[in-house]
Amino acid sequence: MIFEQIATGGCQSYLLGCSDTHAAILIDPNQAQIDRYLGLAAKDGLRIRYVLDTHTHADHFSAARELGKTLGVPVVASKLSPAPYAGFRLDDGEILRVGNMRLRALHTPGHTRDSMCVMADDRIFTCDTLLIGATGRTDLPTGNPDALYDSLFNIVLKQAADLKVFPAHDYKGRGHSTIAAEIASNPRLQKRDRADFIAMMTELNLDAPTHLTEALRTNMSGGKTVAQLLADASAQIPFVSMTELAERVARNDLGLILLDVREKDAFTAGHIPGAQHLPRGQLELRVNKELPDPTRRILVACEFGQISTLAAATLRELGYVQAAALDGGMKAWRESGLPLSTL
Ligand SMILES: [Fe+2]
Repeated sequence: MIFEQIATGGCQSYLLGCSDTHAAILIDPNQAQIDRYLGLAAKDGLRIRYVLDTHTHADHFSAARELGKTLGVPVVASKLSPAPYAGFRLDDGEILRVGNMRLRALHTPGHTRDSMCVMADDRIFTCDTLLIGATGRTDLPTGNPDALYDSLFNIVLKQAADLKVFPAHDYKGRGHSTIAAEIASNPRLQKRDRADFIAMMTELNLDAPTHLTEALRTNMSGGKTVAQLLADASAQIPFVSMTELAERVARNDLGLILLDVREKDAFTAGHIPGAQHLPRGQLELRVNKELPDPTRRILVACEFGQISTLAAATLRELGYVQAAALDGGMKAWRESGLPLSTL
């Protein structure tokens, strides 16, 4: 097996390739690492045939939908996954063949209702059911400590003692463990009585993951994260530096349409000399009147440089072929002591 483990903070992704055929599967991909996965697959001469999510992640943004679409391959998940983009659903015990590798799905609810461990050769990908020295939490949506008890003590821990354990999370850079090592030393597995285990899990009192709402929204629907929306817009437009704009302002000849898309109060309080005002919220409805020439160079500015990126991308979509965004925003402009107008 050709094998890559890719960590993004504490989140672990895995690329498994068949040594004979070079067909591969990517497990639990993270939005932040899309280019890296594709680079690693290319380095190893692998062709990714499947993208798999072991469960609905509540703490990071899954790249499964995007990669499935980009690569034209199925997204594999548990039969209980709510994700509409999961086109290949596995039932408990079913085997997925990837080249000559055989991956066996184990339905292991508890951390989430749709949690699925995957066994391949000498290893098991334990999702958030079993972590190194811990278990997944059961206090997030669809979590259930009673189900986790069964999944751990009656399924995962009954696998071969020397099976290598690769979890979906490991915050301490340990890579992997074994079933035997976890049985011996994982503190949470020392509560072997069901009631004691459930009481321990119920009393953990963990903080909510930072991006809980956005992760559940996007992972369950296949929708975009805000960062993705901004990245997609950034990829469609050029940027102009604040230094260049400051030089244009200094020589009193902008040579372009500078469009300030903030709200009226902000514009009135102070804008770049020569700027034209058109709030983002009214952009699409007023462009025909305010920007009659689609070939003119238009530079969009806002407070922080994000809304202007979205607005410039919208203008490009509308046919303003020279729309660009200011690399920076009015906040940085003011803080640099650059000239402002209230006219
Ligand atoms: Fe999780």
